[in-house]
Amino acid sequence: MSQMSLRTQAAIGFLVLVAVAWLRHAPAATDAKIPAKVLHAPSPQPDRVILTWAGDPKTTQAVTWRTDVSVERATAEIATAEDGPLFRKKARQVVARTERFTSDLGDAHYHSVQFEGLQPSTKYVYRVGDGYNWSEWAHFTTASDKEEPLAFAYVGDAQNDIFEMWSRVIRSAYSDAPKLRFLIHAGDLINTADRDDQWGEWHRAAGWINMSVPSVPVPGNHEYGRQSNGERAVNRNWKPQFTLPANGVNGLEETNYYLDIQGVRVVTLNSNVRQKEQAEWLDKLLQNNPNKWTIVTHHHPIFSTAKGRDNPELRALWKPVYDKHRVDLVLTGHDHSYGRSNVVAGENRREGGTVYVVSVSGPKMYAVEPAEWMQRKAEDTQLYQIIRIDNDRLLYESRTARGELYDSFELRKRRNAANKLVNRIPRIPENKRMPIEPSGGR
Ligand SMILES: [Fe+2]
Repeated sequence: MSQMSLRTQAAIGFLVLVAVAWLRHAPAATDAKIPAKVLHAPSPQPDRVILTWAGDPKTTQAVTWRTDVSVERATAEIATAEDGPLFRKKARQVVARTERFTSDLGDAHYHSVQFEGLQPSTKYVYRVGDGYNWSEWAHFTTASDKEEPLAFAYVGDAQNDIFEMWSRVIRSAYSDAPKLRFLIHAGDLINTADRDDQWGEWHRAAGWINMSVPSVPVPGNHEYGRQSNGERAVNRNWKPQFTLPANGVNGLEETNYYLDIQGVRVVTLNSNVRQKEQAEWLDKLLQNNPNKWTIVTHHHPIFSTAKGRDNPELRALWKPVYDKHRVDLVLTGHDHSYGRSNVVAGENRREGGTVYVVSVSGPKMYAVEPAEWMQRKAEDTQLYQIIRIDNDRLLYESRTARGELYDSFELRKRRNAANKLVNRIPRIPENKRMPIEPSGGR
């Protein structure tokens, strides 16, 4: 070992001291939250991939995804699904429509493709990408051209702590009923209209479920913000990231629309704006309805479950239309609790027969204001609903975040009469908010 001079030793000692001091004071990677701009940054690799419909569910399927702005030409590939890998050679390409989107976190490209000319009741396999960077291949199945049995899920507000607290709910729904035809989101998917990180959380929570089960979303008040001209408008993320029908009231494209699927008409209403026009549109739409079942979804409830949140104008405008056309189910959110009615009569006793539901899937919770119309109610409970329709019967199940059956009923169609509702409520007590014990007491 060679001898070091005193000066060299002192220099090394000094450097060691500096290094130790730096290591002690430098922030360790685990000390800080990753900035939203980094965590939710787009890349050339597709993310936020989501199936929706803009056309006929028998013969079309839309898919939308996100990349960074370096991807200028995006495509989707599709083939009929096969048991082995050879389908890849038979896949056809469809060039995407690409639009630039600037969020609070920066620029991205959103790409959308509508597959057309598909065969009904057929399983397809598809992927999206830019020719170099591709998503995984995923399946979807087109709707039948007959009134075959179907199942779908419906969830109320996800809204808060979405990745942390909503993931388990949406994943429970999928694992309970993986053959879901579609997923209804009854508004307030996120909390702050123009926060891209919240949309990033929403997409991450559902993950690849969104690649195989089409979503049917409707905007809530939290997806609505004021534009620079003072007018209220749907969140800027909404239209780039969801490819939805434009068959509703003019100006409410992709927020008020309808889909016909296997004998079920699914109608979404935008309860934030222009309620009277949508009542007139719905009345006309339901005058010519060849479907056996009609399901309506919107955000604000017709019958509220929480104190001080009644919507009398909305009820006065929309309920008579539901009564007149005997809408089967109205699925809503907004009140951060659960309440479900029996079949509700109309003013004219020969009409009516709709079941109204308020539900919540995220962690924000309000107290229930008990009312006579509620067949079943819940507080502080995260829920998802699975609804199965088979010819003249509809089976409704509401399950808790851990998959426990909480509420259930069956609807039976009757000729020229309101549906018959048979309660199948499980024999477990209602979930009620625990009273807060006074501190210092016994
Ligand atoms: Fe809301």
